[in-house]
Amino acid sequence: MFDKLKAKWKVGPFQLLLILFTFAIGGSLTGWVGRKILLQLSIDYAALRLVTYLIIITLCWPLMVILVSIPFGQFPFFRNYLSRLGRRISGKATRSRVEDNPSNMSTFTDTSLTRVAIFASGAGSNARKIIEYFQGHPQIIIALVVCNKPGAGVLNIAADFSIPVLTIEKERFFRGDAYLPDLQKAGIGFIVLAGFLWKIPSALITAYSGHMLNIHPALLPKYGGKGMYGNFVHEAVIAAGEKESGITIHLVDGEYDHGGTLFQATCEVVPDDTPATLARRIHELEHLHFAPVIEKTILSLPGVNR
Ligand code: GAR
Repeated sequence: MFDKLKAKWKVGPFQLLLILFTFAIGGSLTGWVGRKILLQLSIDYAALRLVTYLIIITLCWPLMVILVSIPFGQFPFFRNYLSRLGRRISGKATRSRVEDNPSNMSTFTDTSLTRVAIFASGAGSNARKIIEYFQGHPQIIIALVVCNKPGAGVLNIAADFSIPVLTIEKERFFRGDAYLPDLQKAGIGFIVLAGFLWKIPSALITAYSGHMLNIHPALLPKYGGKGMYGNFVHEAVIAAGEKESGITIHLVDGEYDHGGTLFQATCEVVPDDTPATLARRIHELEHLHFAPVIEKTILSLPGVNR
C-alpha cells in the first residue's frame, strides 16, 4: 500500500511519512475542533447535531491539514492535493495515470493537464524543487526527466519520485531526430531546462517554441553563453568585481542562454565571496522562484485551462 501511495503521489519514503503524519494530525484536530464547536451550539436533536458536525468537519478539514502541513514542510503538496480534490469534486479532473511507464505514454486523455519534461545534466537541486512544487498539481505534471549524463544526481531524484527518465546520447540528439518522437510520444507539452548543459537542437526549438524555459545563474545578458555554467559563471562574476548577481529565467531560442527574459532576481556579491558561497545564494533564489515562474508561464499559454 505504501509503495502504491509513493508512486501515486510521486514522493519518497520520508516525505510519505510526513504526509501521513499531516493527514493524521489534521484529521484529529478537525474532530477536536468539530466537537468543541458542536458543544457551543448545544443542538438538542441528534440528527441535526450529526448533520451539523459533518458540515463543520468538512469545512474544517482542509484548513486543518493546510495548517499542519506548514510545520511539516508539506504545504506545496497539500495545496495541490486540495485543489485537485476540489476539481475532482467539481467534476473537472480526469487525469490519466499512464505516465509511470515511458513506453506507454501515447494515450493521454486529459487535455487539461500540461505534461512537462525537465532536462538536467547535474545534481538536480532545481529539478527536485520543481518536482516537489508540482506534486498533485491540478493542471501541470512533471512527466519525464531527460538526462544526458549517466550517474547524474538528478537520476536519483527522478527515481525517488518515480518519474520516468529518458537518457539521451549525443549522436541522436544533435545529428538524429533530437528525441522529438520520444517527447511527443510521452505527451510532453512543455520543457524546462534545469542545469542542462547541451545546446538545444533546432528541431526541439521549433517544436517547443514559447514552450521551453531555461534558468541561468547570473543576470543575463551578462555572463551567459557557451561554457558559462555553474561555478564558471560565479568565478567570472567575482573576478569582474560585480556587486550584484542573480538569476535569469528565459524562453529558449537557438543560442546558449538566450531568448526572451521572463524573470530576474538579484542578490548581493560580498567582498569575501567564493564561487561556492555565491552559488549557495544563487541556488536559494533559483529554488524560490523557478517553479512559480514555470507555473505562471504554463498557465498563461493559450489553450491551457486556468
Ligand atoms: C543551476 O544553478 C542553473 O542555473 C545552472 O546549473 C545549475 C544546476 O544546478 N544552469 C546553467 O548554468 C545554464 N547555463 P542543479 O543541478 O542543482 O539544479
